[in-house]
Amino acid sequence: MSTARAIGILGGTGFVGRALVERLRADGHALTVISRNRGKHAQRLLAPGVDLVECDPYDVAALARALRGCEVAINLVGILNDPGLGDSARGFERAHTTLTSTLLAACERAGVGRLLQMSALNAGRGHSHYLRTRGRAEELVKAAKIEWTIFQPSVIFGADDGLFCRFAALLRLAPLLPLARASAKFEPVYVGDVVEAFARTLRDPATVRQTYELYGPDVLTLAQVVRLTARAQGRHRLVLPLPDALGRMQAFAMDFVPGKPFSSDNYRSLLIDAVGGIDGLHRLGIEPTPIAAKLGDILGHAEQRQNRLDRYRARN
Ligand SMILES: NC(=O)c1ccc[n+]([C@@H]2O[C@H](COP(=O)([O-])OP(=O)(O)OC[C@H]3O[C@@H](n4cnc5c(N)ncnc54)[C@H](OP(=O)(O)O)[C@@H]3O)[C@@H](O)[C@H]2O)c1
Repeated sequence: MSTARAIGILGGTGFVGRALVERLRADGHALTVISRNRGKHAQRLLAPGVDLVECDPYDVAALARALRGCEVAINLVGILNDPGLGDSARGFERAHTTLTSTLLAACERAGVGRLLQMSALNAGRGHSHYLRTRGRAEELVKAAKIEWTIFQPSVIFGADDGLFCRFAALLRLAPLLPLARASAKFEPVYVGDVVEAFARTLRDPATVRQTYELYGPDVLTLAQVVRLTARAQGRHRLVLPLPDALGRMQAFAMDFVPGKPFSSDNYRSLLIDAVGGIDGLHRLGIEPTPIAAKLGDILGHAEQRQNRLDRYRARN
């Protein structure tokens, strides 16, 4: 019997989404990626078996139309920073809470009976807008009639990630990196393991009404992540852990830098270690991938991209 399903994916154009689309396509699922901006992503995502549709995900009627015919919805939408300058909760509430409640209403209208919801480790804990709104979104999902599964990853690594690749780009330029919350701990989880967890969940009815923490086998502080990145790049760089008062000031200043490389809300999230307690990958029968198995490839890929970009800039 075929287990192929019709699946609507929000946030399918992002870092995790692109890997998930590839993985689910390989399983033969029919995928509808729902994006706010089709034109921006069409070249990268259009592939046999993938339908890319443009839709305002905050419009319940439009979202229900986009999801019509889908048996499953996957919500990968998330932001790490409010898009406006300053320290505001509004963007987080919209992207995490409002979007989730709109999606739940749209699923009900469109007859979608199953939801895979991406969240984060520590959702609902601490004082950051990010974690608070993540927790609120989880509550909405758990209160709904839909058959749900929630995933709570630590930081996710892989090609084009926001962890090793982001620090690699910074370390290319900066001989010294002053770091707030340098002792904050993570258990980075490989993007391939995250998408495998989603793929297995779709096949296994026992995953309904379950929450899975997703974390890898390595526990690293933020300072260790940066030092490991520099070492793997063959660069000598100095990491300068900032005392908390200075770290908070650095975060406050960055709240007003366009694009927010760091923020007060990131600072508050980092006050809680992103380490797990109950191994969700193990529960799903997945052997977690160590960082050492992938870091060389990830940074090699990032370096090649950066070199191409440098050559392009030099020509134009
Ligand atoms: N990456 C990590 O380390 C990590 C760790 C823990 C949890 N997570 C969670 O995992 C999910 C996927 O992460 P990711 O790294 O793949 O994120 P990403 O690359 O930033 O992609 C997220 C996608 O969500 C959509 N989106 C962004 N802002 C939105 C907004 N304000 N309203 C509606 N849609 C919006 C975008 O799609 P369109 O532009 O096509 O609409 C974007 O491609 C997120 O929920 C994230 O918080 C990630």
